[in-house]
Amino acid sequence: MLKYLVVYASETGNTKMIANEIYDAIKDRSKELINVRQWNGTHEAENYFIGFWANRGSCSLEIIDLLSSLHHKNIALFGTCGMGNSDQYYQQIARTASAWLSQDNHYLGSYFCQGKMPMQIRNKYEQCRGKCDDSQIDEMIRNFDEALLHPDKQDLLKANVFTDQMLRKISS
Ligand SMILES: Cc1cc2nc3c(=O)[nH]c(=O)nc-3n(C[C@H](O)[C@H](O)[C@H](O)COP(=O)(O)O)c2cc1C
Repeated sequence: MLKYLVVYASETGNTKMIANEIYDAIKDRSKELINVRQWNGTHEAENYFIGFWANRGSCSLEIIDLLSSLHHKNIALFGTCGMGNSDQYYQQIARTASAWLSQDNHYLGSYFCQGKMPMQIRNKYEQCRGKCDDSQIDEMIRNFDEALLHPDKQDLLKANVFTDQMLRKISS
């Protein structure tokens, strides 16, 4: 059986960037990196790093299927979302996803960072001007523009540190 499996869902590449970083940070040779769409239950491992992008506060059905199928595994979650700089929000997303894990697994922790969003989202915000609270729209656009810069080098570095922490937890 594989020692480490890094599985990710990524529509526009942000989460894939973090997945690549985590995969590279695992120095053990017994490892594999796959898109969740390639996962068919046959890629079994002792330890999982499972990544996804925040989709309306949750994760995709493919990720839910994977999470709920696992038993007696060490599992760390990671991902990206449009919202920046809010550990509380990041933890909420991780909590929502980890709720799909069976109790017999060992949940290790999570790492999330901001990721750029499609321009249509910014256009939608702009269309709300005059109809909604403009100061709220300004804040959402400020967050959107900040997200365009992520994941950045710092985010990747943090993913690296996170991986080290998770590996230490696994070996202790
Ligand atoms: C349909 C849709 C729903 C989204 N829902 C959320 C959300 O609930 N919370 C959030 O912070 N970001 C949300 N985002 C932003 C994405 O999670 C973010 O851009 C992420 O980095 C995309 O990752 P990917 O490039 O790996 O697909 C949403 C984006 C789309 C397109």
